[in-house]
Amino acid sequence: MDVNELELHPRILDAIKRAKLTVEKTLCLSAADLSRLTKLSTSDVGHLLYEVSKSVPRIPMAIALDIKEERCHASLKVRYVKTGCEVLDDFLRGGILSQGITEIAGESAAGKTQLCMQLCLTVQLPCHMGGLAGGAVYICTEDVFPSKRLHQMIKYFNRKLGPELEMQLAVGDHIFVEHASDQESLWKCINQRVPVLLARGMVKFIVIDSIAALFRGEYDFSEAAKRAHHLRSFGDQLRKLNQQYNAPVVCVNQVSANMKGDSEYGRYEFIPALGLSWSNLVTCRLLLSRTSMTIDINDPDTGNNAVAKVRTMEAMFAPHLPRDLCYYVVDAKGVHGLR
Ligand SMILES: Nc1ncnc2c1ncn2[C@@H]1O[C@H](COP(=O)(O)OP(=O)(O)O)[C@@H](O)[C@H]1O
Ligand SMILES: [Mg+2]
Repeated sequence: MDVNELELHPRILDAIKRAKLTVEKTLCLSAADLSRLTKLSTSDVGHLLYEVSKSVPRIPMAIALDIKEERCHASLKVRYVKTGCEVLDDFLRGGILSQGITEIAGESAAGKTQLCMQLCLTVQLPCHMGGLAGGAVYICTEDVFPSKRLHQMIKYFNRKLGPELEMQLAVGDHIFVEHASDQESLWKCINQRVPVLLARGMVKFIVIDSIAALFRGEYDFSEAAKRAHHLRSFGDQLRKLNQQYNAPVVCVNQVSANMKGDSEYGRYEFIPALGLSWSNLVTCRLLLSRTSMTIDINDPDTGNNAVAKVRTMEAMFAPHLPRDLCYYVVDAKGVHGLR
């Protein structure tokens, strides 16, 4: 934010400009230091600090009973986006939480992209069917967007909807794909294009696939603090959009593999990338993994029996979920939990 946007008396504004203070610098200084640097009176400094602190985004206050009974600010109303599978919705106690950032972490081919695409479809369902009655923006940072696969999913999704709802929703027309191959383009995307889509009511759901791709490898060990600072800025902007528009944000994350136990009998343990500075910005973390198990399923495309690899979804942390695990498979229709 620029100091010119603050509601200040021109005398105070001139003084802070003369002292070359920005909003950020002002927030980091004590009243005594501000008074010394700007030569303003104590009451002027008090007014300046009051106006500057008003410009900082805050979570609206609410008491637990108001949240429970939904008598609070829209961004505090608990809503869920259904996953499109009853088993997974039961596991997630309703679906993806609308507040905060949900991270979907996991090794390559775990099914992260499949789940995100499925959510881009279910979010478009009317509210009484578990959606948010809005489109989705899908920001790709790693690979090209798998549009062929999305169309295959849409085909089966539409079959479930029936012809009337299929026409009415036209789900394929409300997924906005953005590409961001570096941090600068992602920053522009979440600060310029995505806010416009949200403000016009064209989207109510944001996916970044993946956040890790742009922040891993760009920094060396000595730059941990710099990376943490950059991640914080991106996370803050995503949280701001989430709160302002009550639009759930899903970020895909990569994992690193650590050997657990001794090397002969040990097994790998997957740890989501980007460290503690990123973890602290995440509200709900889901970890997807592949297993060596398979099950026989009916292939919806051919009608024949097929073999599907069993995967796991683990709730690592979330305000509404216990730490637990559930099994699922991916088939032509999408992602399905197993009972
Ligand atoms: N049409 C399909 N039918 C069955 N399985 C599929 C289909 N498309 C993708 N998959 C499964 O999804 C996996 C890829 O999942 P994806 O979400 O792209 O992984 P990632 O976690 O790397 O994003 C594939 O390995 C495959 O097992
Ligand atoms: Mg992927």
